[in-house]
Amino acid sequence: MKKYREFLKTHWWKDVFFSEYKTDQRMKVQNPPLQKEYPESAALIDLIDPIHFTLGNVPLIELIRNRRSHRKFSDKPLSLEELSFLLWATQGVTKIVRNGAATQRTVPSGGSRHSFETYLAVFAIKGLEPGIYRYLALEHKLYLIRQEDDLAKKLGKACMKQNFVGQGAVTFIWTTIPYRTEWSYDKVSHKIIAQDAGHMCQNLYLAVGAIGAGTCAVGAYHQEQIDALIGVDGEDEFTVYIAPVGKLR
Ligand SMILES: Cc1cc2nc3c(=O)[nH]c(=O)nc-3n(C[C@H](O)[C@H](O)[C@H](O)COP(=O)(O)O)c2cc1C
Repeated sequence: MKKYREFLKTHWWKDVFFSEYKTDQRMKVQNPPLQKEYPESAALIDLIDPIHFTLGNVPLIELIRNRRSHRKFSDKPLSLEELSFLLWATQGVTKIVRNGAATQRTVPSGGSRHSFETYLAVFAIKGLEPGIYRYLALEHKLYLIRQEDDLAKKLGKACMKQNFVGQGAVTFIWTTIPYRTEWSYDKVSHKIIAQDAGHMCQNLYLAVGAIGAGTCAVGAYHQEQIDALIGVDGEDEFTVYIAPVGKLR
């Protein structure tokens, strides 16, 4: 067991920065793209611009005090503004920095490397067909990857029969593209990515509280099944966290 603890002890300055370690960044390899490519043919769906949000004005102290994991959701749909707010709260890009080599977002990330991509299993969002979507954080837009029969059932199965994962209005499925962080941090990256995921999901917990909805962080899933469902290769990009969201009764 103890050997697994070592992962949590990788040390960014001892193991990478002040060592002879040749990270790709140090070797002047071109920085990876800030966002995964998407098909030119994708029909992009506009989301509500954060400057036009009419929601979210709940005192932070209440959101923190009342934060809980929820596994039972009502049938009420979410509006597109509510979904836009949750996407922005978890991955919204607020600034492009370092001559286009990094982003600042509504959540922190080690070295601002932001390795995550957001996929959605949409069940009940006003104005959206059910299906698997991807969020384009740079554009603050969505596109439909595909519609999928029995999506809720497949999602529940891929999450070790936790059927509540497919019973909300939308399920967030976050992947990492680890090289985005490895380019800077090499072997320390995997600890950083795990740390980054926590911030992102906590923002979801707080943001759902502001719209009368609930969520539950889900770490128990079948890696290959969930990666296949959203169509990622499982090596250069793979799922790290899942969170269903629905209105509370
Ligand atoms: C990393 C992580 C993974 C989790 N995975 C699951 C999960 O697979 N299924 C589940 O029902 N809850 C999961 N949870 C939720 C926890 O069970 C929950 O946070 C804990 O019981 C405390 O309850 P609270 O969030 O209401 O305070 C997870 C939470 C975290 C932080």
